[in-house]
Amino acid sequence: MDKIVIVMPTYNELANIKRMIPALLDDVFPKIKNAQMHLLIVDGNSPDGTGQYVKKLLKGYKNLHLLLEPEKRGLGWAYIWGFRYAMENLKADAVIEMDSDFQHPPRFVIPMVEAYLKGADYVIGSRYIKGGSIPKEWAISRRIVSYFGNLFIRLALLNFKIHDLTTGFRLTKVNGVLDKIDLENIRELKRFAYKVDLLYQSIKLAKNVVEIPLEFAPRTEEKSKFDAKEMISTFKLAIILGILDKKRFVKFGTVGFVGYLVNATGLWFFGRYEDFLPEPVIWALAVEMAIINNFLLNNFWTFRKERIRGFHKWALKFFQFNLTSMGALLIQTTVGSLGVFIFGSQYRQLLLPFIILFFIMPYNYFMYNAVIWRTWKVPFVERIRNIIKNKNSNFLSS
Ligand code: GDD
Ligand code: MN
Repeated sequence: MDKIVIVMPTYNELANIKRMIPALLDDVFPKIKNAQMHLLIVDGNSPDGTGQYVKKLLKGYKNLHLLLEPEKRGLGWAYIWGFRYAMENLKADAVIEMDSDFQHPPRFVIPMVEAYLKGADYVIGSRYIKGGSIPKEWAISRRIVSYFGNLFIRLALLNFKIHDLTTGFRLTKVNGVLDKIDLENIRELKRFAYKVDLLYQSIKLAKNVVEIPLEFAPRTEEKSKFDAKEMISTFKLAIILGILDKKRFVKFGTVGFVGYLVNATGLWFFGRYEDFLPEPVIWALAVEMAIINNFLLNNFWTFRKERIRGFHKWALKFFQFNLTSMGALLIQTTVGSLGVFIFGSQYRQLLLPFIILFFIMPYNYFMYNAVIWRTWKVPFVERIRNIIKNKNSNFLSS
């Protein structure tokens, strides 16, 4: 049977921990039949005696464990010590991150474990999917900060698949995910922001990420340790990780440049036959060469992991790619003409790099990721896809 260890850091949570230990060990754990559940508390030398209180309970519960930090070292450090201990000493198959203050209601451990037992190697307790929620008691301002903070991080990391990137309630499988992460070198271990780096690394390693709804409850006792400083460091880290993650974008840019060279070569080559090739044909052939080049290079390099297989798919995607390229042509024509209209024709050459950088590259990158190779699942693109799919199947069946 798999062993799952809940790692729970505490700092001045005496009133909460008194209720949390029985809530988990006496109530929730017995309901989980197919996994062996343990609770590991990591106390940051709480002045209110949380650690000492837990110590007294250890004898009575064989599935309860305690690590006493010499001092408050910050949330990330508490967690990685807990993870280490869970892996090395308790031989855990999976670990759960969870708050001690009932904001992550203990009953949600059950669906989380179920998702793991069904094959997930990373489970995210999400406040921003159907069924999940943030406290009704929260003031509008706090809701806005929480929602837009998350949206901001999704944009910075360009991750639209996962809806809650800062949640503190998650399960990570040890084999293949947690044991592949260099825990000591997670960024911002002193802060709550460690969560963003840990998530970022985990979703790269995990093969089956599942989000389950979490009803994030209001705090009942004491007050939150998440302040403005923690928030700023979280945003900062998301931006840094977002930039580091742009390898794919660099490849995409390189392919675009090679495409330009192919285009120029094509013009030169077909230009040699200008005596019997009409001018538009020379240009069309050169452009199509660049399109084919970009399609092949992107498919086998930039989007290697997502590359297209099968003849039908190839034909369809190549057609879509040509349409996308026509869209780029349309954008360039429109913005270029508009620019010349506003600034005058002496700026025609200057406008070109500007249009490429701010219009064509973002447009192409978006289309490649969202439509052609589908690395991003963008909600409105998915909706359009579904409409087209349904239309097609109606058409076929009628
Ligand atoms: N050992 C230790 N050391 N524990 C700590 C420390 C520390 O320095 N700081 C906080 N904790 C413990 C708290 O006692 C609590 O059990 C848990 O970590 C989370 O702290 P809260 O103070 O309850 O944070 P929050 O509820 O405001 O923050 C929530 O939202 C964040 C952003 O979405 C949590 O769910 C966070 O995990 C989440 O990142
Ligand atoms: Mn909390």
